[in-house]
Amino acid sequence: MSYSFTFEQIENRPVAVFGAGTLGRRIALMFASRGGTSRIYDPNVEQARAAVEYVAQTLPGVVDQRGSGAVGAAEAHDSIPDALDGAWLAVEAVPERLDIKIPLWGQIDAVAPADTIFATNSSSYASRLMDKHIRDKARFCNMHFYMPPTANAVDLMSDGETSRELLDTLLTVLPEFGVYPFEARKESTGFIFNRVWAAIKRESLEVVAEGVARPEDVDGMFKLNWHMPAGPFQMMDSVGLDVVLDIEDHYAAENPNLPAGPRELLHRYVDAGKLGVKTGEGFYTYPQA
Ligand SMILES: NC(=O)c1ccc[n+]([C@@H]2O[C@H](COP(=O)([O-])OP(=O)(O)OC[C@H]3O[C@@H](n4cnc5c(N)ncnc54)[C@H](O)[C@@H]3O)[C@@H](O)[C@H]2O)c1
Repeated sequence: MSYSFTFEQIENRPVAVFGAGTLGRRIALMFASRGGTSRIYDPNVEQARAAVEYVAQTLPGVVDQRGSGAVGAAEAHDSIPDALDGAWLAVEAVPERLDIKIPLWGQIDAVAPADTIFATNSSSYASRLMDKHIRDKARFCNMHFYMPPTANAVDLMSDGETSRELLDTLLTVLPEFGVYPFEARKESTGFIFNRVWAAIKRESLEVVAEGVARPEDVDGMFKLNWHMPAGPFQMMDSVGLDVVLDIEDHYAAENPNLPAGPRELLHRYVDAGKLGVKTGEGFYTYPQA
């Protein structure tokens, strides 16, 4: 099967998005920004409804800001075959659990059109780890979004057998939808950007754990030198220190040579219930509404 498409060949075909949560609705938004249809499947009908509404409200602003494109739409579908009918691309953005992702990919594989490209938005699992029921591994890859429509880089990564022409298709057509792909050329936990960002977070935590600096010193230098609106500690507080610890634990499980200081420092905050913005206190304190 060929997974080689030009934009003109796919622009009138829908995209199927599985999972209507934080990322699924944002992915649906971007694929509706050239006038086409994003079909959303989520067993939680309230989530699917909220995602359709999010796309309807947000899309005009995205299209205006870009100055090109057309306002398409998102539709909720309550069956997997309906969502996939005619789709050129199936993107999965369901919870970060292999016991959900593996069976879902089997259900998608059973009914998708023969030429649909399959992509997972997983942040921490290589697509290879969830392809058990996908018969043709050449049609599958990681396609990892950040936070569109404001953070529009995308990581692409092969499952080890992904067809070269499939990756070339995505490298060519994704910019048409306002998202910009970068290909990890080897399997890499954290792909490209998240892995580099993990190292920045880790060393920031380490200088504080060693008593070299305070969080506000590190953040102040990032803001002055790189004109960032927020430094690493402010960003960790926003994400949630429990989530930051989970991510660092995942890297440490793969690489036992990583320093323990950053995890120990995070543990102290998490154990004290100081999870960042969401609890009113982390590295900084936040007024509660
Ligand atoms: N949140 C982030 O910042 C972020 C960033 C990049 C990538 N990701 C990745 O995106 C994926 C989704 O994360 P999220 O934050 O959007 O999760 P979320 O919890 O906000 O949404 C997940 C959605 O999937 C739905 N779902 C559950 N089982 C399903 C099934 N079988 N079929 C279809 N939908 C199903 C849930 O009802 C829910 O609406 C994860 O793999 C995560 O690693 C998240």
